Amino acid sequence: MTHEKVLVTGGAGFVGSHLCEALLREGRSVTVIDDLSTGRWANIDHLKRDPHFRVIMASATERALVTEEVARHDLVYHLASAVGVKLIIEQPVRTVETIFHGTDVVLNACARYHRPVLITSTSEVYGKSERIPFREDADVVMGPTSKRRWAYACAKALDEFLALAHHYQSHLPVYIVRLFNTVGPRQTGQYGMVVPSFVRQALSDRPLTVYGDGTQRRCFCSVHDVVDGLLRLPANEAAAGQVVNLGTQEEISILGLAERVIDLCGSRSTIDFVPYEEAYGAGFDDMMRRVPDTRRAAELIGWDPAWRLDDIIQEIAGLADRPAPLLADVVRG
Ligand SMILES: NC(=O)c1ccc[n+]([C@@H]2O[C@H](COP(=O)([O-])OP(=O)(O)OC[C@H]3O[C@@H](n4cnc5c(N)ncnc54)[C@H](O)[C@@H]3O)[C@@H](O)[C@H]2O)c1
Repeated sequence: MTHEKVLVTGGAGFVGSHLCEALLREGRSVTVIDDLSTGRWANIDHLKRDPHFRVIMASATERALVTEEVARHDLVYHLASAVGVKLIIEQPVRTVETIFHGTDVVLNACARYHRPVLITSTSEVYGKSERIPFREDADVVMGPTSKRRWAYACAKALDEFLALAHHYQSHLPVYIVRLFNTVGPRQTGQYGMVVPSFVRQALSDRPLTVYGDGTQRRCFCSVHDVVDGLLRLPANEAAAGQVVNLGTQEEISILGLAERVIDLCGSRSTIDFVPYEEAYGAGFDDMMRRVPDTRRAAELIGWDPAWRLDDIIQEIAGLADRPAPLLADVVRG
């Protein structure tokens, strides 16, 4: 199935800009709707000379505009969202409204014109579950509504419910992707993302800031592998109506990550430990581990991330001699 004309909300963001690049490389026409709240022109500046690329600076919550644009496209990627722990804690109203209202508007328009739509959800939806690795059909364990960080997970879970409801009621082809920590060039550390912050600190020989004691463990997936999965999913109709994890299983503690970044950057940085309360206020909940079960992605689209953590860090730091292989290259052989 070919989808020539593709609409990408949040296309000026970190993941969105890499997705747009890949879509254009495949010969598709791309329209971005982005309000530049956390995205940047600089992320897509190099694409603007392409006659098949269009940018509309607007909110994905603008119903009339979104409906008109959805009608003109064959496939929709809905990435626009409030993101980053820091922003979510500091701007809870914006978090809930942007996530839920935006997705409602996009899904309604897609239902009206029966356009396939991929929605980026998050591993946060698993909440405090300790059933590692996280399977898409496992129970989720949310924290209390009085703790603001859970607003992001709950709003994204509601997006999933709404998308699946459209699939159930009108057979709308919806593709729901739960992204685990995704990292790569263009990601900003401004909203609480750890890898770009560490790399920036290491490259300037400043202390790396580790929240808590650094024993919490995470898996970091390259944006190139993630984009590869985002491209493949809507090409497989069997994936419609399914929730799919995308992330790596290569786990590392945050302290271990800090040490690895310092080492790979050849930095003289030291490590500062900052209590969670100081960074995010009293009563901040964090999870010790978050590892995806990616068997569903493997079965549906043959997805298996190709980038290793050291290559990812080196690419972000601008230290790689040549890019590590894309999954597509590995598969082709
Ligand atoms: N990067 C990750 O590790 C990660 C992990 C889990 C889920 N996700 C999801 O992936 C998607 C992309 O995230 P990202 O990391 O690229 O973040 P990002 O902040 O770089 O991208 C989000 C984009 O959406 C735009 N945006 C926000 N509100 C908007 C609105 N109302 N209308 C139009 N545009 C709006 C922002 O300006 C930005 O360009 C999000 O849905 C996010 O929840 C990302």
